[in-house]
Amino acid sequence: MTQSRSAESETSVHDCPVLEARRLTRRFGGLVAVNQVSFAIAQGEIFGLIGPNGAGKTTLFNLLTGLIQPSDGQMLHNGEDISQLRPFQIASRGIARTFQNIRLFSHLSAVENVMIAQHVHTHSGVLTGVMGLPPAPQEEKQIREKAMELLELVGLGDRADEIACNFPYGDQRRLEIARALALKPRVLLLDEPAAGMNPNEKRQLSEFIRNLRQQFDLTVLLIEHHVPLVMGLCDRIAVLDFGQLIALGDPAKVRNDPAVIEAYLGAE
Ligand SMILES: Nc1ncnc2c1ncn2[C@@H]1O[C@H](COP(=O)(O)OP(=O)(O)OP(=O)(O)O)[C@@H](O)[C@H]1O
Ligand SMILES: [Mg+2]
Repeated sequence: MTQSRSAESETSVHDCPVLEARRLTRRFGGLVAVNQVSFAIAQGEIFGLIGPNGAGKTTLFNLLTGLIQPSDGQMLHNGEDISQLRPFQIASRGIARTFQNIRLFSHLSAVENVMIAQHVHTHSGVLTGVMGLPPAPQEEKQIREKAMELLELVGLGDRADEIACNFPYGDQRRLEIARALALKPRVLLLDEPAAGMNPNEKRQLSEFIRNLRQQFDLTVLLIEHHVPLVMGLCDRIAVLDFGQLIALGDPAKVRNDPAVIEAYLGAE
């Protein structure tokens, strides 16, 4: 499946891509952080986004999740324009993310962090959560059980009651993934998930992401600096440099692209 997908044309990966950027642009004053970027991601792809520091990768994620609005261009989800949607509207479409600068409720326990995220999908809903009202006891029990399942999945099941800020970085990143999964996403955006992990954890992460795709039928977008991880894991890779897309294709093509080697990979 991966190979045939990679062999397809870069601009029409699928009849209706899950996620698409069309000449997407974001300016901050005089700086063009994302400059006319276009790509289309097919259902089930693991799509990597690489590039030097400041290339615009996180800005692209912030656009795709509605944290900031495009200055120009469009973003589509399943063919529908989502360019002007707010973050909660994008989340409720099944697009979830983790953050480069981890954003957990640092003084809550691991299980509480995951439970809070589930309010989007419970009867009591977001309003109850925001107003601090407890959900019905039966619902509370289900929410906790689901949260425990997700913590087991990311390998933190035995540390559910530990306070999030006491976790090492690698574990906090896993906790963020569990929290994102609580939103029952169809598309998962991971911003440098391997940062703070040791080489062994990085290898495990790769396997874990592959399993996630399989188990949840996910499409994954992944920003990552660790080149072997990206090359080994992703079906296709987009390379940003100074906000511009300088390459897009399967790992072999991107690895050998002279512009990519000059801008990013260097002697590696
Ligand atoms: N809110 C903002 N206001 C002004 N400039 C911003 C803002 N957010 C990002 N930038 C600038 O946009 C450019 C792209 O930043 P971005 O964080 O997207 O890069 P990145 O590719 O994620 O880098 P890194 O690998 O270091 O995480 C940088 O020059 C950054 O300083
Ligand atoms: Mg970034």
